[in-house]
Amino acid sequence: MTAFPPRTIRLDALAYGGDYNPDQWPEETWEEDARLMLEAGVNIVSLPVFSWPLIEKTPGHYDFGWLDRIIDLLWRHGIKVDLATATATPPAWLVRQHPDILPHNVDGVRLEFGSRQAYCPSSPVFREHALRLTEAMANRYGEHPALALWHISNEYGDHVPRCWCPTSAAHFRDWLAKRYGDIEALNEAWGTSCWGQNYTDYDHVEPPRTSMGPINPSQQLDFERFSSDALLQLFQAEIDVLRRITPDIAVTTNFMSLFKELNYWDFAAVEDLVTDDAYPDPADPQAHVPAALNYGLMRSLKGGQPWLLLEQAPSAVSWRDVNVPKVPGRMRLDSLQAIAHGSDGAMFFQWRQAKFGPEKYHSAMLGHRGEKSRSFHETAALGAELKRLAAVRGTRVRARVAVVADWDSWWGSAAPDSLPSQRLDWLEQTRAWHGALFALGHTVDVVQATDLREGYDLIVVPNLYIATEAQAQSLAAFVEGGGQLIVGPFSAVVDPTEKVHAGGAPGPLRDLLGVEVDEWWPLPDGQEGTITSIAGRTPTLTTRIWTEWIEPAPSAEVVARYDSGVLAGRAAIVRNARGRGAAWYVSAALSDDSLEDVLRLVLESAGLPARETADRDVEIVTRTDGETDFIFVLNHGQTATSVTVPAGALDLLTDVTASGPLDLPGLGAAVLATPARHPKDFPTVTISPKNIEV
Ligand code: GAL
Repeated sequence: MTAFPPRTIRLDALAYGGDYNPDQWPEETWEEDARLMLEAGVNIVSLPVFSWPLIEKTPGHYDFGWLDRIIDLLWRHGIKVDLATATATPPAWLVRQHPDILPHNVDGVRLEFGSRQAYCPSSPVFREHALRLTEAMANRYGEHPALALWHISNEYGDHVPRCWCPTSAAHFRDWLAKRYGDIEALNEAWGTSCWGQNYTDYDHVEPPRTSMGPINPSQQLDFERFSSDALLQLFQAEIDVLRRITPDIAVTTNFMSLFKELNYWDFAAVEDLVTDDAYPDPADPQAHVPAALNYGLMRSLKGGQPWLLLEQAPSAVSWRDVNVPKVPGRMRLDSLQAIAHGSDGAMFFQWRQAKFGPEKYHSAMLGHRGEKSRSFHETAALGAELKRLAAVRGTRVRARVAVVADWDSWWGSAAPDSLPSQRLDWLEQTRAWHGALFALGHTVDVVQATDLREGYDLIVVPNLYIATEAQAQSLAAFVEGGGQLIVGPFSAVVDPTEKVHAGGAPGPLRDLLGVEVDEWWPLPDGQEGTITSIAGRTPTLTTRIWTEWIEPAPSAEVVARYDSGVLAGRAAIVRNARGRGAAWYVSAALSDDSLEDVLRLVLESAGLPARETADRDVEIVTRTDGETDFIFVLNHGQTATSVTVPAGALDLLTDVTASGPLDLPGLGAAVLATPARHPKDFPTVTISPKNIEV
């Protein structure tokens, strides 16, 4: 038997499988399931995610009979289990016994039992029962050879990321008291002297509810932090139980990509393996671009360690207004994209398509037509193919560029009704900057400003609304050491209590960026403006949504000026040399093309290539173990293309050594194994007919 290092997934292949809900089927089906799973190359399934009510039918009495039988059956077939602690949704009896565990919405309306996640994250009753179940699960299955990984709860915050019930309100007050101590410290942090908000006792403090006018933004921000923490505490409580009983088994909870409500840096820090559920919309031909950003985050959450795509749809989902299926080949390519970006496997929701319930029209690996279904054929084909990629497991993704993602800034810059403009959306901006980097051929990591690992040449900060001294110091050290830094508008405006930095923006980044912001100049809806060509070599840039009146410091070079509207003639983009590198500030929100123009220049300063006339549908991502590079060439477009690859590269998917051009059909892919190159070098893959070097 393979000996696995402690707290790593106990699997010696790329993970392949899906959520499995055997309790929705008669036991006679199980043998067939196991047989077909093997046929499809499945080596791991996630269960029993929502089965608490079947395991604990009456309080404190656990019936593991059916679960024992299915886990044993799977194991007899060599299939491992990503074992859910089953705490994702409480049984009806618990809710009826303790109606207080139900969450309340922002208007104080209690959300009724009848869906899932019917619990308030702060409920001590829910927690007590959930931990008791976790303990029972750990005692029962901790030694089972099929156990590969603990799957705690499910998609924390998917349905109930925030709760306004009295229990949550009390928990919020405790959280605040721990953070601030004396009530006067809270008054100071929240700036309660504005609009007569002063408190004399924590008992008077409430979560931000529907109110008569704009809510105190500091109160709002702390509620976001608290709500993320409340679920984190629940997660940690389950982890503690599992670590005590099964200290060597890895734990995870499945994330939901870039999910605003939970600060995934905090969640990832306490778990062993990052797992993600990704549902790119098949109706969107560009869905692979934000997917690449999400995957960049997933691999970066634990410093580049491989992660795992735990859920994706084989074809259509059931929760969009219109649920478009994936065309043949799309699911395969989406899976390969996740693997290219560091996932050590590809898993699905779900194994067998449901016959009832809200997800009966959601696709599954085994569709309603069973082994005749298209999804079964496609998932079985992929299962076979993934065996060819075994060598990729455990390798790391190469990236020279990273984007900063900061949840405080995301939350703070979304404060309702108190911003210069409600249009500057953190996620949209982050996606736009990343999209430009993607178009220019770059694989992009996602990092925290305070934790910039070695090896990046360019750090892109689309928005850092809330900035601290520590972040500024880390970014300055990066620039001084030779890096290029580029920062987007409305950054470093306030401190972590939402107070404007002394002297205005960009507060702690002022020296580094060589600029002061005098006034925000947001653009009315639909209005665009222009910025003169930068460095005399690019076309005019287009501004949208946001511009700023800035004053460059004497040390800064004005790279481009506004040339329309009130700001015409004033500086728009500045560059400040510092140490061996430089910091750039872009004071406007730019159109996608303009972002590319700016980034092209910055990439050049960073000594990094940018593809000239990009065939935007072809993505190239490299994983490496230091000896071999695995170059994933992914044609996200529907039309065929041809690439010229390094001589002698072996395409692992076909086992053919490339010589000359390699034809890629629409949605086609190649995974090329070549000797590892220097970390600074880029793969020489030429995409014809447009002749792009990346
Ligand atoms: C996820 C969830 C699964 C299933 C899936 C459907 O959000 O974790 O249980 O509901 O969506 O797409």
